[in-house]
Amino acid sequence: MDQLASRKLKLKRSIKILFSEKVLQEKVNELGSAISRDYKGKNPVLIAVLKGSFIFIADLCRKISVPVIFDFMAVSSYGDSMVSSGVVRITKDLDYSIENRDVLIIEDIIDSGRTLNYLVKNIEARNPKSIEICALLDKDVPGKFKNKIRYKGFNIPNKFVVGYGLDYSENYRNLPYIGYIENTD
Ligand code: IMP
Ligand code: MG
Repeated sequence: MDQLASRKLKLKRSIKILFSEKVLQEKVNELGSAISRDYKGKNPVLIAVLKGSFIFIADLCRKISVPVIFDFMAVSSYGDSMVSSGVVRITKDLDYSIENRDVLIIEDIIDSGRTLNYLVKNIEARNPKSIEICALLDKDVPGKFKNKIRYKGFNIPNKFVVGYGLDYSENYRNLPYIGYIENTD
């Protein structure tokens, strides 16, 4: 079967809702309020990790009342699979210097924590004034890389989720909710 045919076939899998649109919006409001309170008088750089974080950051930034600037990094660790390849590769680097800036990394989901661990080290080496992490989802997986998450949305079980920016093989990112992908084949 060619790659496109196999992708279409996979779209027949069904999705079980884990966090509805309303629940997500409430959590994003909470996180935005906490960030606005903690960064009062500051001008942080929000660094979103693409592609998965694009919807989360778009909603979150509109709930942040302090002035922020944006930069984006893209990393690839999974390829087309549901299992991490274990190799983190920067496919798009930051556009600006973050030296002496307050940096807030915005992540969609932390699975093994390998990607974030790599990113934090990489960003630390550029001498920011501070680094904090905001992650919408934190997966309960054994042997996780340790990361200090200042702003966390939800802890989730060790299952593959899609929607609200998260993909399976680049699909499902536009779902307004987050759900489990169920194998029907
Ligand atoms: P980690 O390096 O194992 O923590 O993987 C982090 C990245 O893998 C996330 O930023 C996502 O892009 C992707 N990822 C991990 N788990 C899932 C999932 O359940 N659904 C979709 N993408 C995931
Ligand atoms: Mg992904």
